[in-house]
Amino acid sequence: MRDGRLSANLLDWYDRHARDLPWRVPPDARRRGVMPDPYAVWLSEIMLQQTTVAAVKGYFHRFLARWPDVTALARAEDGAVMGEWAGLGYYARARNLLKCARVVADDLGGVFPDTLDGLRALPGIGPYTAAAIAAIAFDRPECVVDGNVERVMARLFRIETPLPAAKPEIRSRAEALTPRARPGDHAQAVMDLGATICTPKSPACGLCPWRGSCAALAAGVQSDLPARAPK
Ligand code: ADE
Repeated sequence: MRDGRLSANLLDWYDRHARDLPWRVPPDARRRGVMPDPYAVWLSEIMLQQTTVAAVKGYFHRFLARWPDVTALARAEDGAVMGEWAGLGYYARARNLLKCARVVADDLGGVFPDTLDGLRALPGIGPYTAAAIAAIAFDRPECVVDGNVERVMARLFRIETPLPAAKPEIRSRAEALTPRARPGDHAQAVMDLGATICTPKSPACGLCPWRGSCAALAAGVQSDLPARAPK
């Protein structure tokens, strides 16, 4: 199957099964032209860096209610932000969150950059987070590779090389799959596939939009991938 077909299958599945997440614009609204608030996307991605979706939801709502835009957050007292962050852990994220908000509010007129380089120049935004924000908030065709995506790619293409050595191959496979149309939905769809279908244990292959193309499933080795180098 051509890569374009794979992405089309995935987007069709996402249109029907996208998770309802508080920072997400659902695919039907997105197709009507509704774009997410870059501030909300940034906030969610920073919170999700080392924390699960379930744990992030409440914090995300409380932050947005208290500081509805980046300028409001930039003007917050450090102690107030650290207090709202309490319990999420990895407190360097909260300190960088404030630094970043102040740069965007004070130096960039309150507008988040929409390019990978512009985003990466900001405090607390590394290559993964920059790609996620560029794709999700601005619909740029950036390739977003996290642990979920690594697992999905390793299985779809039956990449037997163990992690982390497999990372370059996984990335080039993921890049080849990234479509020009709807790249933001594509990125979120691969995340959803990894979180709900292509799970580490007992993947629900019968429900997968890629079941007809998955090399690991065809060989019956899906639960063995991705391989990991022995410690
Ligand atoms: N993990 C990292 N970014 C995410 C997102 N936007 N949605 C769900 N899980 C994520």
